[in-house]
Amino acid sequence: MKNLVSAADLSREQAIAILDTALEMGEVNERDIKKLPTLRGKTVVNLFFEDSTRTRISFEVAAKRLSADVINFSAKGSSVSKGESLKDTAQTLEAIGADAVVIRHSASGAAHTLANSGWIKGSIINAGDGTHEHPTQALLDAFTLRSAYHSDPRGKGLDGMSIAIVGDVAHSRVARSNLILLKLLGAKVFLVGPSTLIPAALAQAADGFSFSLDQAIQTFRLDAVMMLRVQLERMSAGFFPSEREYARIWGLNTQRLQELGENTLVLHPGPMNRGLEIDAASADSKNSLILKQVANGVSVRMAVLYHLLAGGAEND
Ligand code: NCD
Repeated sequence: MKNLVSAADLSREQAIAILDTALEMGEVNERDIKKLPTLRGKTVVNLFFEDSTRTRISFEVAAKRLSADVINFSAKGSSVSKGESLKDTAQTLEAIGADAVVIRHSASGAAHTLANSGWIKGSIINAGDGTHEHPTQALLDAFTLRSAYHSDPRGKGLDGMSIAIVGDVAHSRVARSNLILLKLLGAKVFLVGPSTLIPAALAQAADGFSFSLDQAIQTFRLDAVMMLRVQLERMSAGFFPSEREYARIWGLNTQRLQELGENTLVLHPGPMNRGLEIDAASADSKNSLILKQVANGVSVRMAVLYHLLAGGAEND
């Protein structure tokens, strides 16, 4: 494996191998000295054309814990804002000697372009391209679900789990990558949200869909709900009547959490619109794995960097 652009780049075996490596990285992250020499001498560039807090920090910490040199290149204030093209930027990074480029870009397909252009010889990792994909987020979500579901998760998938992805599916790269990966790992995946925000093609690829969260809670016997951020910045039209209506019909709240049952797991990729897709009580409830997701993000990204750059066992 050289690049990670889409969750579809992974076989089930490769995905499980990355999740298993992430378990080991999690043990390193519990130690006093959270550092391995694995990527000493390698250079990882975080190339972020879109704002990001947790994903960029997570990749930075992950690369540093593996002893790589890390360059954070955010497009704002760089030559990119002076009109430099992706190609020019890529060629500069190649000349500098980047072994991996972690790219986030507002254009769907940007990571794919970089991976197939030949401009960069190193690995390309997609950290979110437009509304398309965000495969490391899906891996950390799968990791978090697997660890909550199995007492000994090593070697296992998500077979037997039912998971609903709820809300603004249309604009969500997190939803697209999760739909692919969670199904690959054996889970049943349901899409739930307003009809205007559930694309027909994705609904068909899922194991079921519903335009009513209450109905979904009653029919799908869910083990987990993954609430999506309403991506107001990507909406040019009115996809729902008002924020108050959205919260009332599709938001997770204490009452719905009770109906879901006490063992239902709650995920959200962050950043949350508290009071819109999820209320504060649900976000901070004992069911919530939201902070675990952030912590697991570091272990999972260490595992991805390890498999791409240090040649994991299944490298080909
Ligand atoms: C997601 C993203 O940027 O795609 N967040 C993240 O990576 N932590 C989800 C979102 O922005 O809603």
